[in-house]
Amino acid sequence: MTSNFCRLGVAGLGTVGAGLLNFIAERPDFAPAGGRVVVTGVSARSRSRPRPVDISNLTWFDDPVALATSPETDVYVELIGGADGTAKASVEAALKAGKPVVTANKALIAEHGGDLARLAEANGVPLLFEAAVMGGVPAVKFMREAMVGDDVQSLAGILNGTCNYILSEMETTGRAFADVLADAQRLGYAEADPTMDVGGYDAAHKVTILAALAFGYAPNFSAAQVEGIDQLDLLDIKLAHDLGYRVKLIASAKLGADGVRVQVHPSLVPLDHPLAQAGGALNALFVESKRIGRIFLQGPGAGAGPTAAAVAADIADVMTGMVRPVFQKPAASLQQYGSVDPSDTLVRAYLRFMVKDEPGVIAAVSESLAEAGVSIESFLQKPAGQTDGVPIVMTTHSVAESVLAAAIDQIAGLATVLDRPRLLRIAQI
Ligand SMILES: NC(=O)c1ccc[n+]([C@@H]2O[C@H](COP(=O)([O-])OP(=O)(O)OC[C@H]3O[C@@H](n4cnc5c(N)ncnc54)[C@H](OP(=O)(O)O)[C@@H]3O)[C@@H](O)[C@H]2O)c1
Repeated sequence: MTSNFCRLGVAGLGTVGAGLLNFIAERPDFAPAGGRVVVTGVSARSRSRPRPVDISNLTWFDDPVALATSPETDVYVELIGGADGTAKASVEAALKAGKPVVTANKALIAEHGGDLARLAEANGVPLLFEAAVMGGVPAVKFMREAMVGDDVQSLAGILNGTCNYILSEMETTGRAFADVLADAQRLGYAEADPTMDVGGYDAAHKVTILAALAFGYAPNFSAAQVEGIDQLDLLDIKLAHDLGYRVKLIASAKLGADGVRVQVHPSLVPLDHPLAQAGGALNALFVESKRIGRIFLQGPGAGAGPTAAAVAADIADVMTGMVRPVFQKPAASLQQYGSVDPSDTLVRAYLRFMVKDEPGVIAAVSESLAEAGVSIESFLQKPAGQTDGVPIVMTTHSVAESVLAAAIDQIAGLATVLDRPRLLRIAQI
């Protein structure tokens, strides 16, 4: 589609939808070559809900599918959210009707992106989702377009602003996870149901999309290994800091001999690494490629303004007639990947043991690690003074996950070890 006049059907009038309508009211000529963008139809759950944007002159659709296929809709903009249900049905309907689709929906793309890409390409229309990853930071365009001349080898990022905010607050204020989460919910930084964010699933959706774009595979969300920050202890944030690390929720992807490995874990990042410097609600992405080398992107990953800007950039691409394969390569030629057995994965680990304050305890833990084949890199012991034991911390050299897991099981059974040992991975970046 190349057009100087573009009629949008916008489904979803929440943070992003209202942000987009406000932006278009302010800058209807934002697209290149002076074309005008108008919103003609809208849809949301409740017609009567008060909104920060005037929709009285727009055609209301109770059903987003009808909006997606309306003759008045040139481009369908899906800002509802969710991997299935109405969001998926309306996007499929728009693509089948030959309408370009712009969406901010990471769950939809991470879970159904391969099928939707085939549908879009079969119908010769673009399916664009810049806002789905890192909000205002153009990570999708970067990966899909700028990196076609290179081979991405690995990527690691902070892709969830809510978790990054919580971790930053825990470190700077010394408050526990539950306290900071409650504050974040009160301030509107976290959802009432925070599972998608703090459970690591939102970051996993985003890194699944980036991995697909980077490596030429169809996204496979079910293959991601996901661990969130909800079980993280303040004590580990403090002890990691004493060892020269900051704990971040790191979403990473790597292409190896056994396929694509996608992981989300709370991880230790050296304090002087750019990813450790990205504080508050910022998002950041660190990419290593064969020819360009190391690239670092950082910026606001959410919010009405940044996300609407990313949606608008996709609309501008539709208007200039840019139709590229949805995931860098044609959908039919995308490779598939499955879960990678983590047992052989090499990790460097941070291990924290709560032990009785008795002679010989450290030697027993060290011996168990040595017997299992785990080599210790550094050691930290904090003074006693807590009724529930003394924390000792060891970081390890590279070791297979299965070896580490067996050693942890064995040490957990020692009479002098009071609690299950805590394992955090040291980010390999
Ligand atoms: N918020 C961000 O900063 C951000 C950043 C990047 C990507 N995203 C993505 O953008 C999308 C929208 O996020 P958001 O934060 O704007 O969500 P939101 O504030 O919760 O808004 C969702 C909108 O969808 C409407 N909706 C829900 N179910 C519907 C249905 N069955 N039919 C029609 N409309 C329905 C809601 O209607 P009512 O208003 O009537 O309830 C609401 O207007 C999601 O995919 C999200 O992951 C958001």
